[in-house]
Amino acid sequence: MFPSISHPTIRMVSPRSRRAAYAFLGALSLSVLTPGTARAQAPSTAGTTLEKLYTDAQATRGREGYLTYCASCHKTVEHAGPRFWPDKVGKTLGEFWGYLRSQMPQDNPGAMSAEAYADVIAFIMQMNKMPAGDIELPADSVALEKVRVVPPTDTLRSRNRR
Ligand code: HEC
Repeated sequence: MFPSISHPTIRMVSPRSRRAAYAFLGALSLSVLTPGTARAQAPSTAGTTLEKLYTDAQATRGREGYLTYCASCHKTVEHAGPRFWPDKVGKTLGEFWGYLRSQMPQDNPGAMSAEAYADVIAFIMQMNKMPAGDIELPADSVALEKVRVVPPTDTLRSRNRR
């Protein structure tokens, strides 16, 4: 069970990400508090990337950022599907976000704003067919550390078929 979040523990980057973080944590804890409902139909997706944790508009922004800051060295196929997830599954989006902020772009780490890194992750989630929703993925380490990376099952199946 996740601890409840008190306001001072949310490390803010900007008003936009603060609003996003509160909306995000609200949505996340709701599903965490009602795991029985989810379990009735399927394994619980609470606290995973299978919850609707970014918006399509955010992913579109993230795509722009990716094209500007990442595509000179990476192809999107590296960051989608079977080649990508095996290394990430079970880790948290917080780890991923922290890695990108501190290491990428490799020739200029930290070149993007904290929000722009979250947007890039939203784009990567969209490429990986993780469901989008109404709340944005926040640029907030506390919130992102609560989300475990779980790929959609069809992604896993295609990996297993190899
Ligand atoms: C100047 C070239 C360059 C740019 C630009 C760049 N990367 Fe990288 N990236 C690399 C190299 C080289 C590695 C391998 C580094 C290593 O293994 O330590 C890497 C590794 C990675 C990894 C880890 C490998 C994996 O599959 O987990 C991810 C994720 C990643 N980059 C994402 C990004 C994203 C997102 C951006 C844009 C914000 C970006 N990179 C921009 C060169 C670059």
